[in-house]
Amino acid sequence: MSDKVLEIRDLRVTFTTPMGPLAAVRGIDLDVYSGEMVAVVGESGSGKSVSFLAAMGLLPKSATVEGSVILQGEQLVGATPKKMRSVRGQLMSMIFQDPLSALNPVHQIGAQISEMLRAHQTMSKKAALSRAVDLLEIVGIPQPGDRARQYPHEFSGGMRQRVVIAMAIANSPKLLIADEPTTALDVTVQAQILEVIQRVQAQFGTAVVLITHDLGVVARVCERVNVMYAGRVVEHAQITNVFEQPTHPYTRGLLASLPQAGVDRLMPINGFPPNMLKPPSGCAFRPRCEHATEACATSVPELQLVGPSKSACLRASELMVKP
Ligand SMILES: Nc1ncnc2c1ncn2[C@@H]1O[C@H](COP(=O)(O)OP(=O)(O)OP(=O)(O)O)[C@@H](O)[C@H]1O
Ligand SMILES: [Mg+2]
Repeated sequence: MSDKVLEIRDLRVTFTTPMGPLAAVRGIDLDVYSGEMVAVVGESGSGKSVSFLAAMGLLPKSATVEGSVILQGEQLVGATPKKMRSVRGQLMSMIFQDPLSALNPVHQIGAQISEMLRAHQTMSKKAALSRAVDLLEIVGIPQPGDRARQYPHEFSGGMRQRVVIAMAIANSPKLLIADEPTTALDVTVQAQILEVIQRVQAQFGTAVVLITHDLGVVARVCERVNVMYAGRVVEHAQITNVFEQPTHPYTRGLLASLPQAGVDRLMPINGFPPNMLKPPSGCAFRPRCEHATEACATSVPELQLVGPSKSACLRASELMVKP
C-alpha cells in the first residue's frame, strides 16, 4: 500500500467531569494512507469526533489524551500548542457539520481564505486573494471573483460548506478530516458536497477521513471503514466486505438500519448506546447483542483477523459461519 499519512495507536481520551472520569475513546488503532478516503462510522457518542479532535489538538483542557498519533512521521500527542497550530491547516485540517462555526461573520469570504493562506505561507495580499478566488472555483462556487467579496450570511448552507472546504485545502494539507460534513444539508446538496470532497481528494491527492453515522454515504465514496462503538473500533474492513460479510453484530445492526429500496420500515438497533461514565464490563455492545455469552462480560475483545476483515467480537468466526 502507499505511504501512511496518519497512524493512531492505542489512543485514549478521558474527560474529567463533575460526575467522574468519562472514557470517551478507549484504545483505538487507525491508519490513513496517502490519497485515500477512509470512513469512521458509528452511532452518536461512539467517540468519532473526540478521536480526531484529539489528533488535531483541539480538545478542551478537561481532556487527557494518551497513546500515539503520528502524522507524517511526527508524534502529535504531547506536541506544543505552537507545533499544533502549524500542523493545523498546513498538514491536516478538519471541517465540521456546521460551516458557520468555521467562518467569521464580519469578514469577506475571500479575505478569510487569504488569511488562511498567509498564516502558513509567505504571500502578498494580492497573490493570496487571487489564489482564494481559484480555490472558490475549485470547490464549485460560481462567479468566484464576485463571491469572494461577499460575507458568510450571503451564502446558502451548501455554498458555505464549499467555502469551508476551500479554506481547509488552501495550504494543500496531506489530510482532511471531514466530520459529518453533509449531515446538516438536504439530500441533493449532500451529494454535491461529497462530490466536491472526492474531487479535492483526486485533484490534490489529499487523504480524507470521512466521519459519519451513515453507512449508505460511506458505501458511495470510501474503500475502507472503521466502525466505532463506545470508544473502540469494533470492525475494520473493506466496504464491500462490510456489506457482504459483516463480522461484528453491531455492524450487522447498522446495516439492518439502513433504508432499503422497497422496505419502508427501518430496523433500529435494540437498546441504547452505553453511558460512557459507566460502560459495561467486557464487550460494550454486550447488553444489546443477541449473541452475547458470559465470556463477553469478562474481557474487552481486541480486533482480530476474521476472514478478510478485523473484528472485535469474541464470537465473530463462529457467527460468520452461521449468521
Ligand atoms: N468536552 C467534553 N466533555 C465531556 N465529555 C465529552 C466532551 N466531548 C465529548 N464528550 C463525550 O465523549 C463521548 C464521545 O463523544 P463524540 O463527540 O466523540 O461522539 P461522536 O461519535 O462524534 O457522536 P456524534 O455522532 O453525535 O457526533 C460522548 O459520551 C460525549 O458525551
Ligand atoms: Mg461527532
